[in-house]
Amino acid sequence: NWSMNNFIELQIKKIREEVGDRKVLLGLSGGVDSSVVGVLLHKAIGNQLTSIFVDHGLLRKGEAKQVMDSLEGKFGLNVVKVDAQKRFMDKLVGVSDPEKKRKIIGNEFIQVFNDEAQKLDGIDFLAQGTLYTDVIESGTDTAQTIKSHHNVGGLPKDMHFTLIEPLRTLFKDEARDLGEKLGMPSDLVWRQPFPGPGLGIRVLGEITEDKLNIVRDSDWILRDEIKKAGLDRDIWQYFTVLPGIKSVGVMGDGRTYDYTVGIRAVDSVDGMTADFARIPWDVLQKISVRIVNEVDHVNRIVYDITSKPPATVEWE
Ligand code: XMP
Repeated sequence: NWSMNNFIELQIKKIREEVGDRKVLLGLSGGVDSSVVGVLLHKAIGNQLTSIFVDHGLLRKGEAKQVMDSLEGKFGLNVVKVDAQKRFMDKLVGVSDPEKKRKIIGNEFIQVFNDEAQKLDGIDFLAQGTLYTDVIESGTDTAQTIKSHHNVGGLPKDMHFTLIEPLRTLFKDEARDLGEKLGMPSDLVWRQPFPGPGLGIRVLGEITEDKLNIVRDSDWILRDEIKKAGLDRDIWQYFTVLPGIKSVGVMGDGRTYDYTVGIRAVDSVDGMTADFARIPWDVLQKISVRIVNEVDHVNRIVYDITSKPPATVEWE
């Protein structure tokens, strides 16, 4: 559509005017939004852009490698990977409040970018893939905060970057539209959304390595079965959560007392509202059997059948 082409031209012009001959740092998550920003910025300012991919230890199984394989050196992008697992974990130990966790992760992201910017020297701008949805739900433009989306809320006062957020007026489907107009491959453009705080908000309450592994391994199985069933393009977003409750089960002739894993799958257009996805029973059964058999310390699987509202997509 011509208005999206218009949007691209306008944004490129705006970015060039604002940036001039200075340098921009982009936080690349591997998701649609930040990747689209990367391609757009590269079109506008070429090598004045450096992209950083932070592995905060809250990524899905295989994700760091997949992101680097699909973006490093592609579309002209120069991507620096930062291994920051320990930094994030150290800050998160003992923290169980969802909003606190979100804020800690968001702040640590900024700190990592700041450290990297110092190394690169002469960075004036920080670019982010913030969408209109993130802005609304963080309450910057409305009275009430629903969740502090990690990429919203501005920068600490002692940081001297100017923020560039070219997608700030767009919804998810528009960001995807933009990605396609920019010639990005459809597997990247149609990748399911993944929140900045990552698995950190899918392990409910305090985050531990053991719990992260349960979410990682169960999520891997879920994604595998959804793909095998040919549903990966149909369902907008799907993942597992670890509520942290334990219940009694039976294995062989022994009692078990282990974790419950929740399956969350939704259909949506922009994440603002969502309907729970109707995954066929036989697919759910396969997923359930595999998770209990293949992931240690899990003896029960539940399926989240709430829509948004009244629930949200993520559990924290
Ligand atoms: P909620 O849970 O708010 O999720 O209903 C709506 C959509 O937003 C994603 N989400 C986030 N994305 N930073 C992001 O970039 C965040 O902090 C964040 N929190 C939730 C969520 O995965 C869903 O697609």
